[in-house]
Amino acid sequence: MTYDEIKKNKEVCECLKKGNENLGVLGFTDHSAAHCTMVAKRAAYILKKFGYSESDIEMVKIAGFMHDIGNVVNRSRHAEYGAILANEILKETDMSLKDRITVVSAIGHHDESTGGATDPISAALIIADKTDVRRNRVRNKAKENFDIHDRVNYAVTDAALKINMDKKVIALNLQIDTKICSMYEYFEIFLGRMMILMNRLQTPHEAFWMDISYWIERSHIRIIIRRLTYYRAFLVL
Ligand SMILES: [Fe+2]
Repeated sequence: MTYDEIKKNKEVCECLKKGNENLGVLGFTDHSAAHCTMVAKRAAYILKKFGYSESDIEMVKIAGFMHDIGNVVNRSRHAEYGAILANEILKETDMSLKDRITVVSAIGHHDESTGGATDPISAALIIADKTDVRRNRVRNKAKENFDIHDRVNYAVTDAALKINMDKKVIALNLQIDTKICSMYEYFEIFLGRMMILMNRLQTPHEAFWMDISYWIERSHIRIIIRRLTYYRAFLVL
């Protein structure tokens, strides 16, 4: 099973299409195949930069493309539903049991309300997903009806994910139009998303530390989340 094959898989594509339609009716931002493709590519970029193997990169691309299929069942618990759906779909392919379980686990843990990073695949998936903020994800055309998610996405006029290997930092640089969304609203959304990664700090066997620093300079936000492990230059937000 390859990323190119999963992108053409009818069941995956139909789940993403219907799930995204459901979310559109319910007033959510875009969670289409376009979003999932972006997440797959960004997660792959992160793992590649940090020197992970080609098979890990292929796995994270597959997880990235499939990660939101659970929206077809319900937005609530979509990560868990998506993991179960992904297991069924991937079971029918030639993917190894170990890789399938890794992908299923990453999908099942990608939502901040119930999940968290448990390995490099899930960590890269979460970073890629939570950093996809852009104006064209907003589907609500009436600005007066914007909710906070609409405002946060619509306010982003420029976004760039940068990786500095020497400093072991992944940085998300965002240009914000503060006439649309205040800094306070921005952090209200982003702090919740970033907490999903902070939860890992509670894992005692990991000798890593994390430092989260925020810089606010006028309308420019730079979010840097850094984590080091004792054994390798790991990710993560
Ligand atoms: Fe997503």
